Amino acid sequence: MQSEMLQLRRRGLTIGFVPTMGALHAGHLRLLAHARRQNDRVILSIFVNPTQFNQRQDFTRYPRPFARDARLARKASADYLFAPTAREMYPPGHQTTVEAPALARRWEGAYRPGHFRGVATVVTKLLALVQPTILYVGEKDAQQARLIEQLVEDLHPATRVIVVPTVREPDGLAMSSRNTRLSPTERRDALVVFEALQAAGRLIKSGECRRGVVLRRMRTVVARAPSARLEYAAVVDPRTLEPVTVARGQVRLLIAAWIGRTRLIDTLRVRCQRPVRCQG
Ligand code: PAF
Repeated sequence: MQSEMLQLRRRGLTIGFVPTMGALHAGHLRLLAHARRQNDRVILSIFVNPTQFNQRQDFTRYPRPFARDARLARKASADYLFAPTAREMYPPGHQTTVEAPALARRWEGAYRPGHFRGVATVVTKLLALVQPTILYVGEKDAQQARLIEQLVEDLHPATRVIVVPTVREPDGLAMSSRNTRLSPTERRDALVVFEALQAAGRLIKSGECRRGVVLRRMRTVVARAPSARLEYAAVVDPRTLEPVTVARGQVRLLIAAWIGRTRLIDTLRVRCQRPVRCQG
């Protein structure tokens, strides 16, 4: 992979890279479309990274429709599909990992210990192998996107990061590989995740951002669905991902909820016209 990419670079070609864990959906295809438009060559990687799963069962249950993914990659005009094995990415005796930055401590980091160390490590390895001009990630995984931006800022690979807005189903559910695990009833219930974000967004725009009030509203919306359980919800600064005390300009809403045995996350950016107090 490295020597192939080196040859592209020597020829002065730009490389757009979309790292994934497969089970491709319209969100990934949007990333590939951006990469296609902006680069000479497009690389898609599929690697279900074992080190970022904090539960063995979540890793084994992760969907792996490889043949379908390969067809979709071809249809999206990807030039290369890079699908290394776990043994190639983590050869016996490997020792080095990449410690996740402070902005990985809260939210997903708190509920999925070790997850972001796994993400930071595999993304660093993939960057070393592919050496892309531009790396594309989805906005839905907002904390992961910030972590990757920070990693690139801190470790200086010659790569730019582009965060592409979330693609949603017509009813609002954010595209995710995990959606395939939802039963038809759970699929209906899953709508409360985006509805809770929208309800909180409306509150904040109307001038109400107190943590207790926003959380209560989101919890009430999520509770409408029998199979749903809120894990966390937060109003944060889009760059630091720390809870905001006074919302000025843009804030980011984060949510994680269980729908039956499937954990979904989503996010929404909200623009405040005037400063809104969020404490209390
Ligand atoms: O978002 C994902 O699919 C993964 O976390 C990533 C960035 C490909 C690293 O394994």
